[in-house]
Parts: sequence; C-alpha cells; structure tokens
Amino acid sequence: MRWRPPHRRAVTTYSEPRTVRTVHSPERAWLGRGRDNGRVPDAVGSEPQYEVFADGFLDHARDGLFNAHVDRPACLALLGDVAGATILDAACGPGLYAEELARRHARVIGFDQSPRMVELARQRVPSGEFRVHDLADPLDWLGDHTVDAVLLALALEYVDDRVAALAELRRVLRPGGALVVSRPHPTGDWLRHGGNYFQTRIVDETWSRGWRLRSWLSPLEQTCEELHHAGFLIERLLEPRPTPQAAAIDLERYERLNREPTGFLAIRAVPDPRRPSV
Ligand SMILES: C[S@@+](CC[C@H](N)C(=O)[O-])C[C@H]1O[C@@H](n2cnc3c(N)ncnc32)[C@H](O)[C@@H]1O
Repeated sequence: MRWRPPHRRAVTTYSEPRTVRTVHSPERAWLGRGRDNGRVPDAVGSEPQYEVFADGFLDHARDGLFNAHVDRPACLALLGDVAGATILDAACGPGLYAEELARRHARVIGFDQSPRMVELARQRVPSGEFRVHDLADPLDWLGDHTVDAVLLALALEYVDDRVAALAELRRVLRPGGALVVSRPHPTGDWLRHGGNYFQTRIVDETWSRGWRLRSWLSPLEQTCEELHHAGFLIERLLEPRPTPQAAAIDLERYERLNREPTGFLAIRAVPDPRRPSV
C-alpha cells in the first residue's frame, strides 16, 4: 500500500471556519503552499499567517457566532472580575477581547505576531499597550510576576513549542494569577480531519473565505500535558455552548454546537505553587 503522509489539508466550505465540512487530500497536501517544497512540515513557523486577512478576521470575529457567542463569553467568564487587574492578552488579534477587558476596567497589555492585528488593536483600544511579538520568543519586555492574568485565546494551535511559550506566560504571572486559554475542540478537529485522534500533527486548512492556515492538531491529553509541563494546574475546563443569542444568527449551527463537541475548549489554569519555577 502506498505510504501517505500523516497530515491532511482540509478545505472548508462554509463561511464559518470552525464548523466546516472538510475535503481531505492527503497525498497532495502540500502542493501550492510555496514554502514546503513538497516536504512534510514539522513546524508552523514564524510567518504571521493572519497578516493578509487581519481586517477580514476582525469583520468575521466581531459579531460572529463562534467568536462572539462561544469563545469570548467562555474565556471572559473564566477570567472573572478583571476590574483593576493587569491582563496580558497574548495573540490579541484585532483587540476584540482587549476592548471588552478595558470596558471592564482592566489594564490591558497585548501582543500579536501580525503587525496589522496590532495596528487594529491599537485603534480599537487606545488605552491598551500593544506590540508585535511572537509567542515563540521570550517576553523579555515583561518582568517576572508582573501580570494578574494571561489570556491566550485561539492561538495555542499556531505555536510550535507550546510548553516553552506557556512556561514564559507563567513566568510573567503573579503567583495568585491565572491563565485562560482556549483552543479548537480536539474532537471537532478530529471529526474534521480524521486520522489518528491521538497523533499530534500539523494540518493545513483553507477557510471558506480563502484564508489558508497551518496549525497543530492535538488531543485533549496533549494540551493538558503541555500545561502541566509548563508548570500549571488546571482549575476549570469548559466545553462552551453558544449563548442563546446565537440562535438568531444561525439556528442550525446553534443547535449543532449544543449537541456536538465541534466548537472550542476553554481552560483556566493556575501556576502550580509546588513548582515555583519550571
Ligand atoms: C484566531 S486569532 C485570535 C485572536 C484573538 N485572540 C481573539 O480571540 O480574538 C489568532 C491570532 O493569533 C495570532 N498568532 C498566531 N501565531 C502567533 C504567534 N506565534 N505569536 C503571536 N501571535 C500569534 C494571529 O496573528 C491571530 O491574531
């Protein structure tokens, strides 16, 4: 039997990227991307993938069902009362979270790999402090234990060395602080891409708007282990369902996300006091 690479490229067919039908083309998975030379990639790399469609992402995520009615409500609930707190919005995107956190009287520091995302965040939240920064790099502009909470929404899957990135986020957290992290639900990923659920691997997807994204697929256990190795204890894990308002946006998706684990996971983790440094 012919060997097939352990990855697939998924082509999304609907306007929302997270509930898409996928078409697998494993043996031609890397054709046309221009940066692989036909080889199986072992890293997502440091190219700011969102740069070319940052404005489109803002348009999509501002009021869209998945971001505004599934992910944001869950992560904001896990962050709790942020008034007076300093929050690091890691991979802040166009500042949709930052805007809400500032409205709730938090001091927001944010960063993103994409310069256009940082520009959009600055425009949206003039009171925030934003910069271009890659999660792969040390946060050498932030001291130890300087933030009350870290938010990492829907970006962990783009990071190659997730343990190192999470450990760095832990370093800047105050001892009583918390990390809130969300990611695509691993079951949804597996249903979309097939293959071995337990295999951590890279996939390419083309979202229906034509956005091409490379990311890591990993099982739930892998994310929990990465948090553990970075020195965190998981306090809460949510499988958020859409808010009731989402029914008016798209009833079919609303009902499906209430029935099937195809949305996101949201986790609140705290620095493990038994391991002061990792
Ligand atoms: C799905 S968007 C989420 C944006 C924002 N957190 C939100 O939920 O509205 C993913 C974001 O992660 C950023 N990103 C991806 N890889 C990154 C990296 N290695 N370092 C920093 N930001 C990254 C992208 O540029 C993009 O803005």
